[in-house]
Amino acid sequence: MKNKNKVLVSISAFALIACSFSVSTYLQSKKDWVVSESAKKIKNPVKTSDESVKSGKALYAKHCKSCHGAGGKGDGSKSKELDTPCGDFTSSDFQEQSDGSIFYKINEGRKDMPSFKKKITDVEDIWAIVNYARTFDRGGNKEKPKVIVEEKKDPKEEAIKKTKDAEVKKDEKKTLVEKKDKAVVAADSISKHEKTSIALVLKHFEEALNASDSLKIMTVFDTNAIFMPKQKITVGGAIQINDYYKQLFKTNQLNLMISVEATELSNDFAFVRGNLIGERIFIIDNHKAPEENSLFMVMKKTKGEWKIYYSMYN
Ligand code: HEC
Repeated sequence: MKNKNKVLVSISAFALIACSFSVSTYLQSKKDWVVSESAKKIKNPVKTSDESVKSGKALYAKHCKSCHGAGGKGDGSKSKELDTPCGDFTSSDFQEQSDGSIFYKINEGRKDMPSFKKKITDVEDIWAIVNYARTFDRGGNKEKPKVIVEEKKDPKEEAIKKTKDAEVKKDEKKTLVEKKDKAVVAADSISKHEKTSIALVLKHFEEALNASDSLKIMTVFDTNAIFMPKQKITVGGAIQINDYYKQLFKTNQLNLMISVEATELSNDFAFVRGNLIGERIFIIDNHKAPEENSLFMVMKKTKGEWKIYYSMYN
């Protein structure tokens, strides 16, 4: 009897430990998907309407249902083949995220979750899916979905719907123009967000230059970055760039300001033109020399982060 109890205790202790491990690894993996503050704040330019939810539903059925399931519970037919659980769109954890976060995750993807920015090229469509995702029941069917999508088969309502549809068709031209405007607004909000992220990287670069912090400089460059300094030999690779600055900081203290004149975006690359202005102080005798350079950079986005890929100034 005593022995039996001992066995039971140790089995349950083991189970408890195993359980807390798997819970913590689950929480860990979930926590890991960090969305930047600026991405969280991206505004949803597509208003929730029957129309947007309906188009979101159709897109969801085509692109997402196989993994996330018809009810958004993460139990689609493909989900069993995946290493990571798909998440539960009906949970309050999920629903408490901002539209911007959900949009960002669909756009970028990670691991088993595909990135959709190349598959669903009209950002307005992704926003429509975000609106549809908001209709999944919270807390397990307790609350009603915000928008009811199912069409009713009542003949009277069908007739009303038909007249409504006819009216909609009349306004089709107008709607098309509005749709285009919305798409432009959505595209604008993304490019604004990307440009802010790029400007932030350059701000870090500026801070690192002025703080003579060669290690921090390494973090703003892509591992395979190329740096072409004025009248000097080209430097390749973040480690070599770090060495270059280490040498420079031994004799020079910089006091520079980077300003961006123009940023052009093209998928995961961006072209930045700007100025690098300020002064250079020679540590040996404290004499100062003004610096006034034009700057050109190619930025590359890897795993959601912008880094300097090519940099040159003259
Ligand atoms: C091949 C399977 C698959 C498909 C198809 C897929 N997803 Fe996912 N999705 C996943 C997996 C797996 C995760 C969890 C990823 C992780 O946590 O690393 C996920 C995570 C997500 C998340 C984050 C969930 C959270 O808790 O924050 C969102 C949002 C999402 N998917 C939306 C979509 C949408 C919308 C579509 C369709 C346009 C889609 N997914 C298509 C597998 C898929």
